Amino acid sequence: MTASEKPILIVGGGIIGLSIGWQLLRQGFEVTILERDTAGHSASWASAGMIAPHAEAGFEDMDLLKLDHASLEAYPQFLDELKEDTGTDVVLDQRGTLIVGLDRDDTLWLRRLYDFREHLGFPLEWMSGSEAREKEPSLSPKVVSAMWLPKDAQIENRELLTALRTAFLNKGGRLLEQCEVTEILVKDGKAYGVKTAQDQIESQTIILAAGSWSREIPGIPEVLRPPVRPVKGQVMTARRDESCPLECMIRSPRIYLAPKLNGRLSIGASTEEKGFHTIPTIGVFRDILDEAWRAVPSIYDLEIEEFIAGLRPGSRDHAPIIGKTKLENLIYATGHYRHGILLAPITAYEIIKLLKGLPSELLQPFSPNRFLVKA
Ligand code: GLY
Repeated sequence: MTASEKPILIVGGGIIGLSIGWQLLRQGFEVTILERDTAGHSASWASAGMIAPHAEAGFEDMDLLKLDHASLEAYPQFLDELKEDTGTDVVLDQRGTLIVGLDRDDTLWLRRLYDFREHLGFPLEWMSGSEAREKEPSLSPKVVSAMWLPKDAQIENRELLTALRTAFLNKGGRLLEQCEVTEILVKDGKAYGVKTAQDQIESQTIILAAGSWSREIPGIPEVLRPPVRPVKGQVMTARRDESCPLECMIRSPRIYLAPKLNGRLSIGASTEEKGFHTIPTIGVFRDILDEAWRAVPSIYDLEIEEFIAGLRPGSRDHAPIIGKTKLENLIYATGHYRHGILLAPITAYEIIKLLKGLPSELLQPFSPNRFLVKA
């Protein structure tokens, strides 16, 4: 592919679509993003902005862990480039994560997570409740154990998304918002464009990055559609003040608190199979807030800014789906589930490699073709 061909079409203007689109523009490609709503205002907007491979590592996910680490390492370059293209300094907040236990069951759970992470050689430290309170004085006396993960990071996700949108536009990208793709056009084993309510746009490269909606778009044969579903996550945000000077991310088995450097505090999150339902509900927040308050009592007086819910794009194996499909011209970059913010840089950099015809070892385990039934 050369930069002079028809613009690359990206279906979906979330964190993944914007990151890929902007990076492609930096490489001289022409890019159009089609977004059904407002770019950057879906799952990643609602998220808590975690860049936390060590806290979120699953027991069986070695390939994903490799990808997670590569993306964490790529973040400083990604943010430097973003600053070059926007003048905005989006800060990688590297103040670490404390995962806390509030009773004996939690401690057993935490110990198992700790042993696994220690075995993998992650930087980490086991702490008693009082050691954890020395590090983070806002923690409750109820905290009895903790694991300190100094290398996990977070970001102000809304600043990042706003900057990515600006970068995409500054580099000459075409952004079509409120523009739902109603069909991916396919003929003779090849994708050749998209249909929207207004238009038909042709292209030799279509990247499907529509998050939870990726499976819903007609046109792709059923067997080749990405197995992605929406997994609802409810999060609230509050404004921090001097009564709650949190210095790092706090997690327990069921909740997390992500204090942003600008004073915003995200508290979440549920994990619910509710289809495309995005209305926040009282019972979920009652449970989240109860546990968050048990871990950090000083949240009690903070002012609430927002209750919100987002839809994580969960794939069948909860790993992302990135790479070329069996349909010529169609690439998937979807199914990032809990790791959309974390994996944005590496997804963008590795997709560029694919488009340049270079191999990507990192992406191999995440090929869309892993879901095809073998004869
Ligand atoms: N990565 C945080 C979440 O999915 O809730």
